[in-house]
Amino acid sequence: MDIIDTRKCNLWNLDRLADYLAVGPDILRGYYDEILEDGQFLAGINARLTKVREEYGFTKAIFARDKIDSADWFAFERILIYVLVRHLKPEAVLETGVYYGGNTSFLLAGLHRNGKGRLVSIDLPDSAIRAGVSAGTALRHPLVGDSELYQSTLKPGFIIPDYLKQHWDFVEGNSLEVIPTRRETFDLYLHDSDHSMDFLTAELDAAWPRLGAGATVVVDDIDWSNAFFSFCVTHQLSPVLFTDNGKDNLRVRSGVVKVDHPRNRERAFTGAKAAS
Ligand SMILES: C[S@@+](CC[C@H](N)C(=O)[O-])C[C@H]1O[C@@H](n2cnc3c(N)ncnc32)[C@H](O)[C@@H]1O
Repeated sequence: MDIIDTRKCNLWNLDRLADYLAVGPDILRGYYDEILEDGQFLAGINARLTKVREEYGFTKAIFARDKIDSADWFAFERILIYVLVRHLKPEAVLETGVYYGGNTSFLLAGLHRNGKGRLVSIDLPDSAIRAGVSAGTALRHPLVGDSELYQSTLKPGFIIPDYLKQHWDFVEGNSLEVIPTRRETFDLYLHDSDHSMDFLTAELDAAWPRLGAGATVVVDDIDWSNAFFSFCVTHQLSPVLFTDNGKDNLRVRSGVVKVDHPRNRERAFTGAKAAS
């Protein structure tokens, strides 16, 4: 697919999000235009791409590109979370799984534009991931392979432009241990750490008591296990699901649920907890 078709997918998804949130589509399309036109953001990302590639020789994922000339080159989820931050104007955002910081950059760009709000991001250092893999102690989804490994000289979030970090609180650790220690009430929670059934189930359970009454939950790679669907069944939540934008794939990938959505009572799943 070319970038024009990717843009069409992004717009189609954003219109479904507008329907779910009961807002006019032009409002969300306006936020999308905003990040597409944000020259400072793109310049900051490109400066980090060049530095990391030249100084650390890291060429995985988006770092394989010399230069990114549009935010459309990123997965739809990044557009989704930017638009959600701009629309919801959260005071406190929780993110798990930072890796190079693609999602983190888009969340922070939204907070930066809002002029308020804090993002708490949790990730393990690369050394801990490697140790857990070789000891066989980490709960890890088999699909992940070595795709998230990088060298220990790089810290999580190495694509994030410096000017965005003023809204950021990075916490190094296991999300299952860190989340219960947080005292904030989060308005927005993004899961993108380990997507295995057991781990995601445990992380959603840990996050649930820390979410505000009107919080929004975004889960990446919902097709990797039944954990997100099981969470929706348990709490009687009616989600909206999004495909990616065709640049890499079109699989149903991101789940969004607003915990106080009016549809929760009308159309919630019924039946037993989904099997793994
Ligand atoms: C899919 S990557 C995240 C990609 C990232 N959101 C981005 O936009 O570039 C998954 C991340 O989850 C982290 N992770 C895995 N297990 C974790 C755990 N138990 N606690 C916190 N982070 C974890 C890994 O270190 C890795 O950085």
